[in-house]
Amino acid sequence: MPKRILIIDGHPDPEPQRFVHALAEAYASGAREARHEIQVVRVSDTPFELLRSNRDFKEGKLPAEIANVQSAISWSDHIVLLFPLWLGSMPALLKGLLEQTLRPGFAFDYRSGKGLPKKRLKGKSARVVVTMGMPALFYRWYFRAHSVKSLQRNILRFVGVGPIGTSIVGNVEGSAPMRERWLERMRRYGRAAK
Ligand SMILES: Cc1cc2nc3c(=O)[nH]c(=O)nc-3n(C[C@H](O)[C@H](O)[C@H](O)COP(=O)(O)O)c2cc1C
Repeated sequence: MPKRILIIDGHPDPEPQRFVHALAEAYASGAREARHEIQVVRVSDTPFELLRSNRDFKEGKLPAEIANVQSAISWSDHIVLLFPLWLGSMPALLKGLLEQTLRPGFAFDYRSGKGLPKKRLKGKSARVVVTMGMPALFYRWYFRAHSVKSLQRNILRFVGVGPIGTSIVGNVEGSAPMRERWLERMRRYGRAAK
């Protein structure tokens, strides 16, 4: 059954050599092979202003580029979010895009009185793919994969997205065979839309 897949390439650097772009393209090629529909949002090609106030978060005008990202999210069944680990977390530009995009009224609704906000993006699954210089095991065990867990809990699950698969690509500057194995894994995930 074909799925609608939104690939968010969260690397701020448009340089084609970045491995995140290769992983995103490998996922897309696997998905195309299996006849899934895809849309791609590249943070490096998406000009937008950073959000600066709670008021703008709640009722500020939506920039056109951000409205396009919201439409792509609404359209999708599955979201693939790829980024390099920068200073222990996602790059600021990707965080900025998510702050602009996942606004109340679109991603969740505040409830009057008590109670957690209502999740508006239920029914969408996701895969988070993170590249990093350190070994994946070190990130998982020493840092407890803190920033990936925070993305899952505070952002994706908060708006209803799940289940969420995770791929931690450690030692990213490592060997060519290691990189090829990851690209093949992404093609496989793309074919399976997972
Ligand atoms: C500003 C910056 C901060 C970085 N911080 C980390 C870090 O905290 N931990 C880490 O393991 N690697 C860190 N790195 C290495 C990147 O994660 C690595 O270069 C990237 O994942 C490689 O993927 P790419 O080819 O797609 O850029 C950092 C790189 C930059 C440019």
